Amino acid sequence: MKRASASLLPSITLEGSGPIYLQLAEWFRRAIAEGRLRPGQRVPSTRALADELGVSRLPVLGAYEQLHAEGYLESFTGAGTCVAAAIPHEGPATPRRRPARTPSASATPAPRRVAARVAAMAPPPQTWLESQGAFRMGVPALDHFPHGVWSRLLSRHARDIGTGALVYGDAMGHLPLREAIAEYLATVRAVHADAGQILITSGAQHGLQICAHALLDPGDRAWVEEPGYPGAHQALAAVDAVPVLVPVDADGLDVAAGLRRALTARLAYVTPSHHFPLGATMSAARRIELLQWATRTGGWIVEDDYDSEYRYGSKPVAALQGLDADARVIYVGTFSKVMFPALRLGYLVVPKDLLPTFRAVRDALDTCSPMLPQRVLHDFIREGHFARHIRRMRVLYAARRAATQAAIQRYLPDVLQVVGAAAGMQLTALLPPEIDDVALSQRAAQVGVSVRPLSPCYRGEARRGGLILGYGGVDERAIEEGVRRLRRCM
Ligand SMILES: Cc1ncc(COP(=O)(O)O)c(C=O)c1O
Repeated sequence: MKRASASLLPSITLEGSGPIYLQLAEWFRRAIAEGRLRPGQRVPSTRALADELGVSRLPVLGAYEQLHAEGYLESFTGAGTCVAAAIPHEGPATPRRRPARTPSASATPAPRRVAARVAAMAPPPQTWLESQGAFRMGVPALDHFPHGVWSRLLSRHARDIGTGALVYGDAMGHLPLREAIAEYLATVRAVHADAGQILITSGAQHGLQICAHALLDPGDRAWVEEPGYPGAHQALAAVDAVPVLVPVDADGLDVAAGLRRALTARLAYVTPSHHFPLGATMSAARRIELLQWATRTGGWIVEDDYDSEYRYGSKPVAALQGLDADARVIYVGTFSKVMFPALRLGYLVVPKDLLPTFRAVRDALDTCSPMLPQRVLHDFIREGHFARHIRRMRVLYAARRAATQAAIQRYLPDVLQVVGAAAGMQLTALLPPEIDDVALSQRAAQVGVSVRPLSPCYRGEARRGGLILGYGGVDERAIEEGVRRLRRCM
């Protein structure tokens, strides 16, 4: 540790690591910012300081040069080097940095002020994430992903990238990819849209954020499903919108309850193909009621179709967007489940008259999506790998879903009541009221089982306890073992 104390200078202590000239410059910056060195105050000559510190003059010269360049020091012929007179001075201030030594518990500083809405944006405690084991939600069968094909396409584009992929792209996304998505949606989801209406996003959550910014002002009310997807609440909180909790039953969102609670809400967020988290499919009658509400009141419907590619035992349910004659639905899709979540690509289908609004919001939020993955995904779809992968995964997930249901039937028949298993890569099982699902998920995490509790998906008072089991990324042996371990936690 090097120390020097010039007569009128606070003692200089260099105890960090790294080049001495950087440590010295950092010491001066901090001393000036904290008011320990005042504007106009003389600092020692480089020779004197080097002598006092017992170092060569070179690092001191280097530090002073840097501080001159940054405007902390200035020199006058005959007067030596001083702290720049232009630095504002308010007397010695409390250091802004935490003291090097750990403060005692009583000295813990109060949290500093941040935006109030952040509290509402925080997700519920995610205890289940403490385990990487069986039933982690939202994880596809990554070991069955055609990595070879993906990396071949990726290196083809990386090798031959061209300058077009290196500049700012269109806020709406890569047009050939948008064309491929529009065709796919028309065929598979009965969505009516041309490529011009597709906006590429960084996943469904980003799509929800864009919708909230484009459609809601602070204080606007929005229907959200109860229980529902916490990410929808996060998107509303980001724009200071007010969620109106609308219950969900076996037919999906209870539209009549929504009408009673907030007839003039600006927006309704729904997962009609596969309700998150209870798994209901919205009935035709409810779909029509919802569309009629939107037409009558000028409300918007955000349709989150996050995982409906996988549907078991019945044909895929057509998207709500395809029924909408009044262009009131914004359709949200994602590649997180059908490809992999880290790809961070999804899309919105935007009504034509809203395109300038959505383009402006997307541009303001994050400009555009990265070009390279969009190009690779486009080829992946056009060369038929995408459709093939979905077909293979549908068979695999059907088997894993059956294995999960069978294991529950074998080991926990009287405890878990499966409710939402018609689609997707996860199922929900209700627990008897006396079992605390959050505590159970914590115990499960300790034995390597990752189950998400149902009750935090409720925001109101009446909560059902249950577990959400993601089976997409778990093989059948691990499913059996996972349910056995879960039984031990009961
Ligand atoms: C209902 C629902 N919507 C949206 C998302 C977010 O998906 P993404 O990864 O595309 O942001 C999820 C993720 O699990 C989800 O369950």
